[in-house]
Amino acid sequence: FPHTSPFFPSLSFSLVVLAAQEIIVSKPGDNATLSCIYRGRELHLNNLRVYWQKADGQEDCSVVHALISGQDNESEQCIHFKNRTQLFWDRLESGDFSLLLLNVSQSDVRTYKCVVMQKTEYTKMIHQSEVVLSLAASYSQPILSGPIRNSDSTEEEVTFSCRSGNGYPEPNVYWINKTDNSHLPPSELKITPHADGTYSVFSTLKVKATSNMQIECSVENKILQENLSANYTQQKQSNGSSTESHKNLGKKGRGAQAAGIVSVIILIGLLTVLTCWLWRRRSSNQVSYTGNE
Ligand SMILES: *[C@@H]1O[C@H](CO)[C@@H](O)[C@H](O)[C@H]1NC(C)=O
Ligand SMILES: *[C@@H]1O[C@H](CO)[C@@H](O)[C@H](O)[C@H]1NC(C)=O
Ligand SMILES: *[C@@H]1O[C@H](CO)[C@@H](O)[C@H](O)[C@H]1NC(C)=O
Ligand SMILES: *[C@@H]1O[C@H](CO)[C@@H](O)[C@H](O)[C@H]1NC(C)=O
Ligand SMILES: *[C@@H]1O[C@H](CO)[C@@H](O)[C@H](O)[C@H]1NC(C)=O
Ligand SMILES: *[C@@H]1O[C@H](CO)[C@@H](O)[C@H](O)[C@H]1NC(C)=O
Ligand SMILES: *[C@@H]1O[C@H](CO)[C@@H](O)[C@H](O)[C@H]1NC(C)=O
Ligand SMILES: *[C@@H]1O[C@H](CO)[C@@H](O)[C@H](O)[C@H]1NC(C)=O
Repeated sequence: FPHTSPFFPSLSFSLVVLAAQEIIVSKPGDNATLSCIYRGRELHLNNLRVYWQKADGQEDCSVVHALISGQDNESEQCIHFKNRTQLFWDRLESGDFSLLLLNVSQSDVRTYKCVVMQKTEYTKMIHQSEVVLSLAASYSQPILSGPIRNSDSTEEEVTFSCRSGNGYPEPNVYWINKTDNSHLPPSELKITPHADGTYSVFSTLKVKATSNMQIECSVENKILQENLSANYTQQKQSNGSSTESHKNLGKKGRGAQAAGIVSVIILIGLLTVLTCWLWRRRSSNQVSYTGNE
């Protein structure tokens, strides 16, 4: 090993230059794994110092987690990260210095830096990489209910309501008149934060009842660039034939048509066989008959 050590510094230098930045998207309240993997030669934990720190650290405290001579060292760890970080002990010797950060919240959103130093004759940085932690969570499929007729209004006014949850960050809610794709102003919008950092949303829409109402509620997550929507399409009344049953009829109609064609083909086939058989029987009878004559 001392033999090769003169070459080691130059090798480690090129690895340092190739440092990459990774983005981790986590849900508030979840545990996030910030990855830091060194693919170099075999390591001896006792010679290593691993520092996880704030990359943009102009604050007083920058140490997120420290491993010194094979032991976690909490002496300089920021209070914000106390009892919330752990390394994967079974993976350290293979060069995996990823950090598990428990119960992440908005205050953890930042860029982190992993620095690995090796102490042989002198201390040398052998690896560094950066991880960006951001928070986001998809909203649940919105549930649209209504219309409910408002008894107290003189006009025929109805209320729709829409709810969704378990998302992050705060959503935008859009009510859309699907007839002309115009936006309708909500009459109520309630966004509720939960203990785990996620939000739920409840919104209502009051409109004058018209025939053929087509209403959509859409919940937008700006970070994930995601819109989830739920529809209401008025079924035509009493005159029967709603749009839905039209579609079903269409499918059934096509099915029946296909079945009809198949049975006609089978029938023709059967008739052909029967005709052939009858014809052959008749002609053989004729032959025997003429033979007898
Ligand atoms: C996060 O990790 C802790 C400790 O390992 C565990 O108790 C907790 O259930 C985990 N939380 C989630 C959301 O996985
Ligand atoms: C932590 O590191 C400091 C020096 O940075 C050292 O004085 C202290 O003994 C270490 N503590 C433990 C528990 O290893
Ligand atoms: C960390 O955990 C220890 C023991 O479990 C506890 O005494 C200490 O108060 C905790 N520190 C913080 C900042 O939560
Ligand atoms: C997670 O952190 C939040 C504050 O960010 C706290 O209110 C909550 O109690 C923590 N949950 C757990 C399981 O430690
Ligand atoms: C939706 O748009 C159509 C066409 O512009 C309009 O006739 C109808 O009244 C609108 N419905 C609502 C609930 O605003
Ligand atoms: C979500 O829908 C709204 C309303 O239709 C639209 O303004 C917005 O651009 C959509 N966002 C995405 C990410 O598609
Ligand atoms: C809403 O209706 C459109 C077409 O009118 C359809 O493509 C979409 O899947 C529907 N969304 C839901 C959630 O039913
Ligand atoms: C049923 O349809 C007829 C004409 O197609 C229309 O005059 C009548 O108002 C409809 N009734 C209802 C309840 O929609």
